[in-house]
This record gives sequence, C-alpha cells and structure tokens, in this order.
Amino acid sequence: MDFTLSPEHLMIQQAARDFARTELLPGVIERDRTQTFPHEAVKKMGSLGFMGMMVSPKYGGAGLDAVSYVVAIEELAKVDASAAVVMSVNNSLVCAGLEKYGSEEQKQKYLFPLARGEVVGAFALSEPEAGSDSASQKTTAEDMGNYYLLNGTKNWITNGSSATYYIVIAQSNPKKKHKGINAFIIERGWKGFQVGAKEDKLGIRGSDTHTLLFNDVKVPKSNRIGGEGLGFVFAMDTLNGGRIGISAQALGIAAGAYEIALNYAKTRRTFGKEIIRHQAIGFKLADMHVNIAAARMLVYKAAAEKDRGLDISESGAMAKLYASKVAMETTTEAIQVLGGCGYVKEYHVERMFRDAKITQIYEGTSEIQKIVISRALLK
Ligand code: CAA
Repeated sequence: MDFTLSPEHLMIQQAARDFARTELLPGVIERDRTQTFPHEAVKKMGSLGFMGMMVSPKYGGAGLDAVSYVVAIEELAKVDASAAVVMSVNNSLVCAGLEKYGSEEQKQKYLFPLARGEVVGAFALSEPEAGSDSASQKTTAEDMGNYYLLNGTKNWITNGSSATYYIVIAQSNPKKKHKGINAFIIERGWKGFQVGAKEDKLGIRGSDTHTLLFNDVKVPKSNRIGGEGLGFVFAMDTLNGGRIGISAQALGIAAGAYEIALNYAKTRRTFGKEIIRHQAIGFKLADMHVNIAAARMLVYKAAAEKDRGLDISESGAMAKLYASKVAMETTTEAIQVLGGCGYVKEYHVERMFRDAKITQIYEGTSEIQKIVISRALLK
C-alpha cells in the first residue's frame, strides 16, 4: 500500500497552494467581513482548471482524478474555505452530476462553460421543510406536455446569486414519493425565477447563500436530467461525490488552523521558552497533527475509491463525518493556543473556527452521515 502522492498530485498541490497564497490570502479577512464573493479569484480558478477538475477534456474539463481534486480543495480551504466551497459545489454537485447523467445536448450547452469556469453553477435541493429529509420535496414540477411548470422555494443555496445555471430538484408526482422526483437545469433570467434574500451567515461568508423562488417557471422537457422520476437517486448519487469535496474542505480548514497554531507556538515565548515546549500546548499540537493525518487518510481513501469506480456512499460519509469533526476540534484548539490573538480577526483562526461549523451541516449533517454509514453496515 503506497500512501504517497504521485509527482502529478504534488504538482497540483503546489499550484493550488501558490494560488491560495497569492490570490486568496490577501483579501480573505475583508471578504469575510463584507460577505463578498471572490469573483476575480473564481475566474482565475477557472483558467487554472479548478472549476471542472474531474470533467473530461471533451467537455471542457481538466480530466484529472478525484485525488487531485481533494488535494486542490484542501489547499484552497487552508486559506479561504469560502472559495473552496464555491469550487466544490461547481465540481461535485454541478459538473459531476451533469457529466454522469446529462444528455449530450445538455453537456454541450451547460457543462462546457461550467467546467471551464466561464460560469458558476448551483445545486438546489434543500427547502424550508426538506433539508435532511430530501424526499419530502415541496417544490413541484408539473408535467404540462412539452414542458414542466416549476413552483416553489429553495433555501440555503450555495452560489445562489453568482450562478448562471442551477440544478433544481422538484417533485412531479407526489403519489410516487421519491420516485416522482426530477432534476432540472434552470437558467438564470428565466421568467418566474428569482434569486431571493442573501443569508447573513456565521461562516463561509465569502460564499453567497440565497433563497431561490420559482413561480410558474416553464422548464423545457429537454432540461430534465436523466429519465422521468430519477431525480432523487441523481441527487443522492451526486451528493456522495459532494461529500468528498466537503471532507477535503473540512480537512483544509483544520490543516490551515493547525499550521497557524504550530507557527505561533514555535515563536511565542512564555515563562522563558517557546510555548510548544510547555506540555499543555505541545500535547494540543500533537493531537491536532494526529487527527488531521487520520482525517486526510479517510479523505484520500474516499477519493481513491471514487477513482476506482467503487460505491463511495459509505467512504464519502465517513470522510465527511470525521474530517468535519476534526475541523471543529482543531479550530477550537487553535484559538486556545493563540489565546487572545486567536480571538481577533488578523490571525485567521477565529474565521476558520466559524467556517468549520458548516462542514458538519451542509451536504448532510453529521447525523445524516451516520444514517448513511449505519445503513451501509446493514448491507
Ligand atoms: N447514494 C445513492 N443512492 C441512494 C443514497 C446514496 N447515498 N441514499 C439513498 N439512495 C437511493 C436508495 O437506494 C433508494 O433508491 P431506489 O428507490 O432505487 O431503491 C432511494 O435513494 C431512496 O432511498 P431511501 O429510502 O434510503 O431514502 P430516504 O428518504 O430514507 O433518505 C437520506 C436517505 C440519506 C436521509 C437522504 O435523504 C439524505 O442524504 N439526506 C440529506 C440530504 C443532503 O445531504 N442535503 C444537502 C443539500 S445540498 C448542499 O448542502 C449543497 C450546498 O449548498 C453546499
């Protein structure tokens, strides 16, 4: 068993690290304060191939594997978790689903610009009453013959106002429960589609999270993704991959906070020595180091299994469950290592602490990951 990254993976890691340091770090505190989306950086991420990393070059993507993808997300999230989630949603929830389930026509029209990063995509599944229980969709898509009529509201949608194309999940036949659900591609600007209020969030404040409102939106039949009634399984399968992206984001947040805490502990002196030499601090850093290494193994394992074409529902859930817990614990302890400095914005760890929390909530709460894992144990 070889636990080392290949020379190609190391090159991608270095490119992502350089990008994060030069393009993301300078404005990250201000974007967090003002809730500003990193438009310029996202354009550059597109030209670096980061917005469609796993998409085939045939459809405008970089044609890389999932290990490359998690390595890149980790590096971005070490510095700016908001930019990392923009990238993760575009790659995992939008491009990957379209490439796997979309028609050739849909791929030509939508996947190309999304994978090249010319436009950003969003994935709209959650609703006020259907967050964890996604099968209880209240948004409806009534079959009108040659089009569907879409009505309803979606909540907490990442890339809500920056997206051009949206994958929207809706119920077409409530009698059939989850087998009546469909997935559609909706274009920004279509009549009846409105981007609603922006959320004022605890963390990942540089990403834009919005309500979406659909009022008699006419959706051509050709914009349904996959066969009639396959929308729920499409969403679940797409989320399996999404959870790997979020696990890498959580890993990056933890690793970023750890690096800051380690550097601080090696230079800050109290009682005549560097604080890392006090066991109280040295043990914290040792725990962080081990936990992050363990989380990284789970994240890489899930990505490697994706690359081998295996079922990643369980390994993706395990990686997300554990990495998000490590992100929360590590950022909490990083603040403690920095003391008063950790509590103010300029040292970054307070932002990372706020950013970490969402990784235990979106793309399925930690409790949902445990449902997925425990159901896998039954098989
Ligand atoms: N992978 C593939 N298929 C799956 C699946 C998975 N992980 N989970 C369920 N399915 C399939 C089942 O095989 C079944 O298929 P058939 O009908 O063909 O047999 C079908 O889906 C129904 O399965 P269940 O009866 O198990 O479904 P359920 O209603 O009990 O729900 C759940 C299961 C795991 C709780 C699911 O609802 C879930 O994952 N909920 C969380 C949703 C979520 O993650 N939301 C996040 C929103 S997106 C987001 O956050 C993006 C962002 O902005 C960053």
